Amino acid sequence: MAGETTGFRLRLLLLLLLALSTAAVVVSGVGAEEEAAPAFREAPAFRNGRGCAASGDPAGAIHIAMTLDTTYLRGSVAGVLSVLQHASCPENIVFHFLASSPRRLRTVVLATFPYLSLRMYRFDTALVRGKISSSVRRALDQPLNYARIYLADLLPREVRRILYLDSDLIVVDDVAKLWGIELGSHVLGAPEYCHANFTAYFTDRFWSDPAFSKVFEGRRRRPCYFNSGVMVIDLERWRAGRYTGRLEEWMRVQKRRARIYELGSLPPFLLVFAGDVKPVEHRWNQHGLGGDNLEGLCRDLHPGPVSLLHWSGKGKPWLRLDAHRPCPLDSLWAPYDLLRRRGSDDLLAIS
Ligand SMILES: *[C@@H]1O[C@H](CO)[C@@H](O)[C@H](O)[C@H]1NC(C)=O
Repeated sequence: MAGETTGFRLRLLLLLLLALSTAAVVVSGVGAEEEAAPAFREAPAFRNGRGCAASGDPAGAIHIAMTLDTTYLRGSVAGVLSVLQHASCPENIVFHFLASSPRRLRTVVLATFPYLSLRMYRFDTALVRGKISSSVRRALDQPLNYARIYLADLLPREVRRILYLDSDLIVVDDVAKLWGIELGSHVLGAPEYCHANFTAYFTDRFWSDPAFSKVFEGRRRRPCYFNSGVMVIDLERWRAGRYTGRLEEWMRVQKRRARIYELGSLPPFLLVFAGDVKPVEHRWNQHGLGGDNLEGLCRDLHPGPVSLLHWSGKGKPWLRLDAHRPCPLDSLWAPYDLLRRRGSDDLLAIS
């Protein structure tokens, strides 16, 4: 017995040592809190075409918000490059990046896009930590996914409209067309998908309780699914209507009272806005290219023209490309990948 205990202790000690040395490797050289950010090649300068407002003129500015974190950085960088490359007035685009460690990521982004007009905001993940309930997929539960709810609070008052973009998409058209849509009296514009089964986004518990399901009464139109990864938001109307609080309220219901949905940050948006969304052409969110939320099988484009490709769902093009198991449409993402590859670019840089 004694021998067995000693053996067990030894094994435990070994395991502990192994764990410690692994942890040491992970944190070495970085700010100790997150893994090292990947390195990227420098993007070229993109210049305004003719007919653009002078860059720096607030009236001509296009404000785009994205989140930045180490895990999705490669996707964010590709997204930014795609926006700049297809914009007629790239120098008029101001990027607003939300991150939990903004200083470090600012350095990475500026090394990649030295000419980029950008502002960084620290998103305090503690703001949502107690409000997130677990979903069908771990990645959907990341606090940064909820940062879009706080845009109106984080961005300065003079930013009156924002285009929010997810980090797993590329824009292949002039983003000014999406930015400039007429919102009328709507708070939010996004492509709507009315043939998607709206019922399926909420649980039976939700639909069986009129106290919940009556939320959709009195909407301008039938509530339809829209994807919260591409949204044009009137921040003034948002602030005036205190929409952050309305979204948080549903998160609180989900967390404390009843499980009313299975996905992450999307259902609260549906609960507050579905049926009151300004519909945008479908070309601006060809979503679902990551595959479904559980299996990540390959998906095809929806019929019609394409201005924005969105790898929402489980699979991400950079992971599938790295694994040499890409979906056919992942080849459309690859040209925007600025990752500096070890062994090729690095060797060149050293020599
Ligand atoms: C929509 O989804 C609900 C819930 O998952 C299901 O019960 C219903 O049969 C679906 N309707 C259609 C038309 O597929």
